[in-house]
Amino acid sequence: MSKPLTIADLKTLARRRVPKMFFDYADSGAWTEGTYRANEEDFSRIKLRQRVLVDMTNRSLETTMIGEKASMPVALAPTGMTGMQHADGEMLAAKAAEEFGIPFTLSTMSICSIEDVAAVTTKPFWFQLYVMKDRGFIERLIGRAKAAKCSALVVTADLQILGQRHKDIRNGLSAPPKPTLNAALQLITRPRWCLEMLGTKRRGFGNIVGHASNVSDLSSLGAWTAEQFDPKLSWDDIRWIKDLWGGKMIIKGILDEEDARAAADTGADAIIVSNHGGRQLDGAPSSISMLPKIVEAVGDRIEVHVDGGIRSGQDVLKAVALGARGTHIGRPFLYGLGAMGKDGVTTALEIIRNELDITMALCGKRDIQTIDRNILANAPF
Ligand SMILES: Cc1cc2nc3c(=O)[nH]c(=O)nc-3n(C[C@H](O)[C@H](O)[C@H](O)COP(=O)(O)O)c2cc1C
Repeated sequence: MSKPLTIADLKTLARRRVPKMFFDYADSGAWTEGTYRANEEDFSRIKLRQRVLVDMTNRSLETTMIGEKASMPVALAPTGMTGMQHADGEMLAAKAAEEFGIPFTLSTMSICSIEDVAAVTTKPFWFQLYVMKDRGFIERLIGRAKAAKCSALVVTADLQILGQRHKDIRNGLSAPPKPTLNAALQLITRPRWCLEMLGTKRRGFGNIVGHASNVSDLSSLGAWTAEQFDPKLSWDDIRWIKDLWGGKMIIKGILDEEDARAAADTGADAIIVSNHGGRQLDGAPSSISMLPKIVEAVGDRIEVHVDGGIRSGQDVLKAVALGARGTHIGRPFLYGLGAMGKDGVTTALEIIRNELDITMALCGKRDIQTIDRNILANAPF
């Protein structure tokens, strides 16, 4: 393929280069994948106003998210097992984000550890927290994120029980892959990926193995989540975490106005309107369709961000027009990473920036800070 021009091009390349179990892990949603599809489809229902004969020079996409400067209103979302899309994936993606001037969020369930990512970056990154029953482990994890000078804690609220993704079960997803015939057949057709993976020692869950007690085999994410994640997690725990952390906090996975109000009551710095990329409650509405209602409910009290289904700079602009201070992308950067490593992440970000910039200009605007509903021709939500 010649130079990738769209996120879809990167997805095609990633499908060719990444073993099926890991490509499918990214490209999957829960059960019927209806919410996963709705996240993308609902963006295409929003139409833009075409404006002409306005000065389009000196455009700016610069903004701030939770008070931190960003070159555009986009952050890399936390994604588990990113180091299985490409060897040392989290370190590469973090470096690409830093060079681009946008936030990178490291997942609790990453392959590279907090310390690995801190060692290859110079600016603070964000750390995403899953809360397990073992509170001693959570205290140590938060301590490690502080020691690494992470500038925000992103607490994920929508995954205490894992939504079922059929592809993962059928493919026998595990990290590292188990020595089964099924896995061997998936790996043998991806020699380049295997070679790169042999060149790194990071092939397990770097934040967990050797840090959490009683963890020996964590390769089956599903089984481990069911055993360790705390299904009793409550708003009181969020307050406990906030005190323990003492820094900026973002609550991720809010899709309901009532929950948004409760999140604002905690004094958190931002919420992310999200359904986990359609990977948890299949049948939930798309994130973008819920954004305006949530902005209306709490937008004057807390920063509102959104993720889910963003596949272009146009989608970023539409989200900003509907009130999002920031957007987060998961699969677009994972496809870039799987396709071309760090360069692929940079390419994904360049594609999005270019589309965002041109679309903003054709809507007659020069500064992302001035974008509001006025640029929309219709507002289906
Ligand atoms: C492969 C994959 C792994 C993910 N792992 C996590 C995770 O570890 N923690 C988390 O809070 N969200 C996780 N998410 C959800 C993302 O942070 C984000 O909400 C979602 O990807 C946004 O949708 P998009 O992929 O359509 O951009 C994951 C998403 C994907 C695709």
